[in-house]
Amino acid sequence: MDKPKHILLIIGGGIAAYKASELIRLIKKSGMTVRCVLTESGAQFVTPMTLAALSENEVHTTLWSLKDETEMGHIQLSREADLIVICPATANLLAKMAGGIADDLATTLLLATDTSVLAVPAMNVRMWQHAATQRNIEQLQKDGINVMPPDEGDMACGEYGPGRMPEPEALMAEIASLMGSPFLTVPGADTDETELGANPLAGQPAFAPDQHRPLHGKHVLVTAGPTREPIDPVRYIANRSSGLQGFAIAQAAAEAGAQVTLVAGPVHLPTPAGVMRVDVETALEMESAVHDALPADVAIMVAAVADWRANTKAEQKIKKKGDAPAPLELIENPDILAGLATHDKRPGLLIGFAAETEKIAEHARAKLAKKRCDWIVANDVSGDVMGGTDNSVHIVTDTGSEIWERMPKSDVAQKLVQKISEEI
Ligand code: C5P
Repeated sequence: MDKPKHILLIIGGGIAAYKASELIRLIKKSGMTVRCVLTESGAQFVTPMTLAALSENEVHTTLWSLKDETEMGHIQLSREADLIVICPATANLLAKMAGGIADDLATTLLLATDTSVLAVPAMNVRMWQHAATQRNIEQLQKDGINVMPPDEGDMACGEYGPGRMPEPEALMAEIASLMGSPFLTVPGADTDETELGANPLAGQPAFAPDQHRPLHGKHVLVTAGPTREPIDPVRYIANRSSGLQGFAIAQAAAEAGAQVTLVAGPVHLPTPAGVMRVDVETALEMESAVHDALPADVAIMVAAVADWRANTKAEQKIKKKGDAPAPLELIENPDILAGLATHDKRPGLLIGFAAETEKIAEHARAKLAKKRCDWIVANDVSGDVMGGTDNSVHIVTDTGSEIWERMPKSDVAQKLVQKISEEI
């Protein structure tokens, strides 16, 4: 939804450096951007030319480049990154990091950063098992560095044991997970070149092969945002819904491989990649867009639909008449969620949301029965949930309920999609 995530890839001097080239390809394919820093010994194994061509970015090799310091200083290099990946992280690089040594571009920017770091050690088995290396790894983990344990197997030096660098697909899965996108895993096998529009999944970042994604082949319908009920050409009834939670759910479902239709009320949010968006304004328009989108395997009704609309929309702006306000006659909007529950194309799993300020679970259970849906996701809107970035929810089903403590709306979305995947 936001600008692409950016990886700063530091390539150390080891034979496993060749795998970094493949990793760059996978990072690019996943929709992220990447910039490389090559150490002096790393340059003995791969060339800056290869890395520049694959990353489509300049490769940085030295701290003493005047051009870099005026145009792109080493601080900026790490500051623009969402994650720094050291691959391969040699015993020497790990030792310098653990000791706080900064004597080249890679180690200097590692010391100067507060960005998350993933170190991918790769080295000879005895170097890996050496007490010094193990001590350094322990120290780095205490310092908050993510260390990906090496694989065990045949090594380039002819020995066998732990120290092998994991395959690029496994590295990519680890990067995706640190970026908070557990479904963004192994892009290697996804070669769908279909043009946008022809295929609802086209344009999604390349995630795991389609058939391995948990919602592959499922149609998920999501409503999001407020509705806006006109009174006259300039006035309307609305509410404070930001659409953030619904958009995050649509994004998480798309990342899980679903074909997603997002029926959105008036919000200024970018459309998540691979999602089919239908913009509407009023509850009646939302209802008809929802019906048009059927059949769906799952429907998640997150929108804050206005309960009432003006009986008539004045053609002209309503004028003040003396002191008395113009009377406003309201009529009830259709309940889209309850309507879906009895629709002959009822989605297999129908999920409603409920905004509550007290007795959350109790009110949610009553709503579950009244609307005849399968789950109610009730959020406590007594705080700053509407328009905020966090949410805490109760999931109420026929068989029980669970509470998810306050977390970012994107995490709620991923947890919910995970629960849906398990259910269906
Ligand atoms: O009744 P209440 O508005 O609390 O119910 C909330 C749930 O019902 C949400 O899932 C919302 O999207 C849905 N809803 C609807 N149509 C309405 C009112 C609410 O689909 N007119």
